[in-house]
Amino acid sequence: MRLLYIGAGFVGTCSAAVSASSGHEVLVYDIDEKKIKMLSSGDRDQIEACLFEEGLSDLLIRNKERIEFTIDYNKVSEFLDNADAIFMCLPTPEIGETGESDLKYYNAAAEQLAENLLKRNPPSPEATEGNPSSAKATAGKQDKYVVIINKSTVPIDMVDKTAEILESKGVKNFGVVSNPEFLVEGKAIQGSIKPDRIVVGAWTEQDFAIMKKVYERFYNSPQTKFIEVNPKEAAASKLLANYMLFNKLAVCFDVVGRTCESFEDLGFENVRNALVTDPRIGSWGLYDSLYAGGSCFIKDARSLSHQLKQKNQNTALVDEVYLSNKRQLKNFLERIESVSGFENKKISILGTAFKRDTNDIRNSASIEIMNYLQDKKFAEINVYDPAAMDNFKKMFPESEKLRYHSHEFEAIRNSDIIIIATDWPQFRGLADVIMSELSKEVIIADGRRMLAHRYGDLKNAGFKVVAVGSL
Ligand SMILES: NC(=O)c1ccc[n+]([C@@H]2O[C@H](COP(=O)([O-])OP(=O)(O)OC[C@H]3O[C@@H](n4cnc5c(N)ncnc54)[C@H](O)[C@@H]3O)[C@@H](O)[C@H]2O)c1
Repeated sequence: MRLLYIGAGFVGTCSAAVSASSGHEVLVYDIDEKKIKMLSSGDRDQIEACLFEEGLSDLLIRNKERIEFTIDYNKVSEFLDNADAIFMCLPTPEIGETGESDLKYYNAAAEQLAENLLKRNPPSPEATEGNPSSAKATAGKQDKYVVIINKSTVPIDMVDKTAEILESKGVKNFGVVSNPEFLVEGKAIQGSIKPDRIVVGAWTEQDFAIMKKVYERFYNSPQTKFIEVNPKEAAASKLLANYMLFNKLAVCFDVVGRTCESFEDLGFENVRNALVTDPRIGSWGLYDSLYAGGSCFIKDARSLSHQLKQKNQNTALVDEVYLSNKRQLKNFLERIESVSGFENKKISILGTAFKRDTNDIRNSASIEIMNYLQDKKFAEINVYDPAAMDNFKKMFPESEKLRYHSHEFEAIRNSDIIIIATDWPQFRGLADVIMSELSKEVIIADGRRMLAHRYGDLKNAGFKVVAVGSL
């Protein structure tokens, strides 16, 4: 099949790479020239510097004959003549703190697409002979059926709005499908090659049939559930799934973790083990962290709340999840502050990615920490992250008081307070270096419980540990 992807972000690129590896002919369009250049470079380092996702560069390089990246809409327009499906993978961020989705990227892309879909299957030169610049000459016959697929996370009734945009321009012979993306950043390729579920929301059998061909590779696979619903059910299930996952994290941080922070002799890991053995509780999300960041949970819960408010529903439970996440970070930073204060302190921040195995810093705890520290009179901040430092530097450029390091040891060398903000596995081994090389005055602020297995040793050696989930 010929598949067009609009938007070469985490979702568009990962999904496009998997489609190419499934045998489809894929064109990926984006307005970001630098991104397109790096992704189409065929160079592993450049691809990873652009999008750090395990397995992505391998897939792109291995399938380079089947996947092309472009910023040239003429190429897109030509491709549309015979395209079977178009994946909309545009950003849908929150507008301020309103919960409302900012659809300007989506709408701009949809309008440009509509204008070009109109030109599909142009009439033969003979048909327009004598009047080549007439509207008739530029209007296509549009006889090839095409589906437009919302892969972006969009409001529940977006399917209607997408159809309106296309119809208002005169586009014919199309269907609008919702196929929400459930990828987990850091495991996007692995998850897309072996998905647990593919949710397709469509109104017609014709659209379901096209989507089955798109995902033929997974059809009847024992591990992948193919779930067919209508487009609004698909969009709603994406928002609700993210809310429920976010809710689980919030319960773990704000109830389980807080309980362990409140009583003597409660080991978070021991309590967790006792909980997760109940399959009704399950193990996902039962870890403690200073903050649940990333591009999805916060914005999707806020969007759900906004949409429910518009239907005059009480959204207290939805909103509390968002609020408790904010409270969690504030609580952690205030605990550190109450132990030592930040004034004149050399602070190390380990981890700028919102979680390990990605260079995505959207809504990362470190951004919030930097904002929190802004009006504290700290001496300096030293930062290290194995993958996401370049993205962080764009937001917080290096200065006399803000330094970036190429190794975690360098970042903590002269530290007064070490804040572990991302769960990169290499941070688990830091205890020995801390104990052998740093002064006992150093505060270890573990926002990820990375050193939980060594808290006893650190405390016995005289270090003060402030950890989420520990008293
Ligand atoms: N990142 C995730 O983990 C994840 C998971 C599931 C769903 N989603 C959803 O998928 C959507 C995309 O997310 P993402 O993380 O890939 O975003 P992203 O910001 O990484 O990528 C979006 C891309 O769209 C491009 N773009 C913007 N306007 C454009 C236009 N008019 N034409 C062409 N390209 C344009 C941007 O340059 C960017 O490269 C969002 O709705 C998001 O909520 C994301």
